[in-house]
Amino acid sequence: MLPVDPLPALAKLRADFPALQQKVHGRPWVYLDSASTAQKPQVVLDTLQRAYVDLCANIHRGVHQKSQQASDAYEAVREKVRRFLNAPHAAEVVFTRGTTEAVNLLAQTLGQSQVQSGDEVLVSGLEHHSNLVPWQRLCEERRAALRVLPLATDGAIAAERLPELLSERTRIVALSHASNVLGCIVPVAALVSEVRRRAPHAVVLVDGAQAVPHLPVDVQALGCDAYCFSGHKLYGPTGAGVLWGRRALLDALPPWQSGGDMVLSVAFDQTLYQDVPHKFEAGTPAIAEVIALGAALDYLSAIDRPALLAYESKLRAFAVAGLQQIDGVRVLGGHATDASHVPVISFVVPGVHPHDLGTALDFEGVAVRTGHHCAQPLMAHLGIVGTVRASLGCYTNHADLQALASAVEQALHLFRRR
Ligand code: ALA
Repeated sequence: MLPVDPLPALAKLRADFPALQQKVHGRPWVYLDSASTAQKPQVVLDTLQRAYVDLCANIHRGVHQKSQQASDAYEAVREKVRRFLNAPHAAEVVFTRGTTEAVNLLAQTLGQSQVQSGDEVLVSGLEHHSNLVPWQRLCEERRAALRVLPLATDGAIAAERLPELLSERTRIVALSHASNVLGCIVPVAALVSEVRRRAPHAVVLVDGAQAVPHLPVDVQALGCDAYCFSGHKLYGPTGAGVLWGRRALLDALPPWQSGGDMVLSVAFDQTLYQDVPHKFEAGTPAIAEVIALGAALDYLSAIDRPALLAYESKLRAFAVAGLQQIDGVRVLGGHATDASHVPVISFVVPGVHPHDLGTALDFEGVAVRTGHHCAQPLMAHLGIVGTVRASLGCYTNHADLQALASAVEQALHLFRRR
């Protein structure tokens, strides 16, 4: 397969990421672990530093100038997130530490207020632990039943099984927008329509952690009630993420954590709470990180996203083709070259432990993730202990993927000689 030439505008992106200039084990760093965390462009690093130098003041609390400027900069990011997700209102955007905290926030507040014994919660078989364990715990606490939407042999969701798993008692449906292991995109809009037909009382949450770096997302078109993502996989800093929820849903939920900033007034006999989104943001939030997340959203929004998606899909196909030519390598999941996958590729080599292969790749400067990827039920379904996962970002180029294929070939050659 011929290398993929990016559009000139995309080829230039790589220079924005200073970390990619580093060497590891004396070799140019080939970073293929963007699904764990993405590298950060200079503009995000500069914004983070400016937020800590020029705007280092607490928000919503001070009459002094810097506090007001920091508050304005922080609040402005809600509008950026609203635009990024095409959400109806900026007040529906709640800042969290990341996807995990967003799911926990929703699981705990929904659990407290809307789930009774005998109700049902539905997740899919490919969920990351962070979109499974909070629901499992909720079911244990409320004596609700956890239902699981099964997977086809290749690990994609068996959507045709959805109707039989929905009922009047389904209160929550929690689905990933894209698998963090296989990259397959879940047909969320179609699944939501089915949920609305058969489970009118269900709240649908979508875990967008692996989708937002690659797919333009429109929560109104998806039709879900809540959507969450982590800033650090989206070229932003760690510690800042988003829970978007429909206003009516968020209004109906009790506050989550308690403390300063989420209250209107406090007295010993009665405490009154703020409206959304502030009632969910107790204490000092990750101010600088949220402001820098705004810079990451600006950065990504300035890129031609459909062109980037097309380029990433071609790179994915190039990587899959290169890996499949290597004796013994089995690429998991569908190998479609269209936009049915985000650029996350998992593979195994029978007889070789993923950690051993990952360690050998690291010596060649190639960074991948190995193991179960916090998706043990999916591993059990596929009958494996783990995979080697290569995940791409907007800065990945075909030289990175050629380096991956050569490093895998070389490592397997060495393993076999021994
Ligand atoms: N959720 C991240 C991953 O899949 C950490 O690697």
